[in-house]
Amino acid sequence: MFELCRFDDLADGEARRFELDGHRLAVVRIGDEAYALGDRCSHQDISLSEGVVDPDEFTIECWKHGSTFDLRTGKPQTLPATRPVPVYEVSVRDGMVVVDLP
Ligand code: FES
Repeated sequence: MFELCRFDDLADGEARRFELDGHRLAVVRIGDEAYALGDRCSHQDISLSEGVVDPDEFTIECWKHGSTFDLRTGKPQTLPATRPVPVYEVSVRDGMVVVDLP
């Protein structure tokens, strides 16, 4: 379990990049929930946290070629990416964003 930041420090509907314990994470806040994906597009080595979040669809779009990834499953929804990115379990405890790394 790793504490990332205060939940209030995450902007609603935006992604933020974290690096810890050898993992690159894209952490997204939508409303009262936080989501964490591997911060590397499965198509090429592009940071997903630089992409655009769609809070209605729970997706983040890779800016390079436009693949969108489901924040809850890590699965790509549009080409050219075909492989999922890892998803990490995130919770909010005492106002802090906590992530579970494998
Ligand atoms: S690098 Fe992300 S879709 Fe190509």
